[in-house]
Amino acid sequence: MAGFLEQLTALLGADAVLTGEAVRTRATSWIDPAPLQALAVACPRTTAEVAATLQLCHAARQPVVVHGGGTNLVQATRTCADELVLSLERMAAVVAVDPIHLTLTAQAGAPLQRVQEAAAAHDLFFPLDLAARGSATVGGCLAMNAGGVRVLRYGMMRELVLGVEAVLADGTQLSSLNTLLKNNAGYDLKQLFIGSEGSLGVVTQAVLRLFPAPRSRSTALVALAKFDLLLRLLHLLQRELDGALTSFEVMWEEYYRLTTTPPAPSRPPLPHGAPYYVLVEALGSHPQLDNVRFEQALDQAAEEGLIEAAVVARTAQQRAGLWQAREDSEQIERQYPLALGYDVSLPIAAMEPYIAQVRAELRRQYGAEARCWVYGHLGDGNLHLNVWAPNFVDSGQVAAIVYSGLQAVGGSISAEHGVGLEKKAYLSLSRTAQEIATMRRLKQALDPHAILNPGKIFDLESMHAP
Ligand code: LAC
Ligand code: ZN
Repeated sequence: MAGFLEQLTALLGADAVLTGEAVRTRATSWIDPAPLQALAVACPRTTAEVAATLQLCHAARQPVVVHGGGTNLVQATRTCADELVLSLERMAAVVAVDPIHLTLTAQAGAPLQRVQEAAAAHDLFFPLDLAARGSATVGGCLAMNAGGVRVLRYGMMRELVLGVEAVLADGTQLSSLNTLLKNNAGYDLKQLFIGSEGSLGVVTQAVLRLFPAPRSRSTALVALAKFDLLLRLLHLLQRELDGALTSFEVMWEEYYRLTTTPPAPSRPPLPHGAPYYVLVEALGSHPQLDNVRFEQALDQAAEEGLIEAAVVARTAQQRAGLWQAREDSEQIERQYPLALGYDVSLPIAAMEPYIAQVRAELRRQYGAEARCWVYGHLGDGNLHLNVWAPNFVDSGQVAAIVYSGLQAVGGSISAEHGVGLEKKAYLSLSRTAQEIATMRRLKQALDPHAILNPGKIFDLESMHAP
């Protein structure tokens, strides 16, 4: 019998199976430029080819790791040298836009930005948005249940999907390309593939929800003096803008300083020195009215003593400048390559004491030089913490510091980035033993040979260890 790679090549053609140097010239991920380690990279062009590939892998017990855009914030796409990478990069088309029923069907390899642009070309709107929009793919956004900067109004990827086509580990094609908003005919199988990090099946196509394209976009950066004013400002804007508020993105001062000080390319739109900055954005349908109402709401916030200063974007360039201050988290990776990143969820009211406790503990363990940049989607209860110290001993100690206060307040170790390899030792802090056992049962039912993204999220062997 021919070897695995020969069989795979016979199935897909030589140009669709990359090996050797063609694998090594790929980076491990967006953050990690080290050469990709993998047996091969398979690049199927059709769902039938994905199915044939998985059928072969299932029979050969060949581990498979699906790759999308490779953001890989939690090592969910990390591979070993004996694993096959299944890349959906040649299945990157927007298949159809239905302007009557407001749906868009895309192949899993389509970049998020292509989906946004295809919707815009029909005067429609796909609301999910995040800094990696140019590279992140529909399949990756589904596998990780991506969140981003408009969850406050439109929800996460899970809320924006009507149907998926997926291939199971044994090669079974599961076409659930539902386009109906309401369909309660039994289990909602697509949910199995959303947020399961490529461990239960491979999404090949998806039907996404669209909305009418906004006619107005109002964006401002505001500075606040105290944490409790953040929540009051959020409520004021939600009330005064009649639900048009789409983003409420907080930056603690250290983060804002980092992203707006050389070598970062941005300059500060508001002076440094306030404890908190928030990027607020509203989308609406009445340009003149909406901008006036937006500024009135900010004036009201100022009158009520909620904000210290505000700058409203007057041009697209100014808006891009405000967003860059928020989105340029890459500065942390660039300037502090060993910094550790966390993505936590907790009730907004618990955030201030939580961050104070994390900072105090970091100082106690690592001294005054320890750094903690905090930013994120405050309106969603989601904070990103990036931590660095010159004398880090081990990442477990830092994780213990970041995670220890979460359980008591009902928080989560992962708000939107997932678990991957990085957070799997801590899964039991956010999920019960029964929940994890049920995840294992699902995994065993759908992927009995455990070939799909093995070792990610949880280990199969133990019922007790996370
Ligand atoms: C962000 C990514 C890190 O919000 O989730 O910038
Ligand atoms: Zn985020």
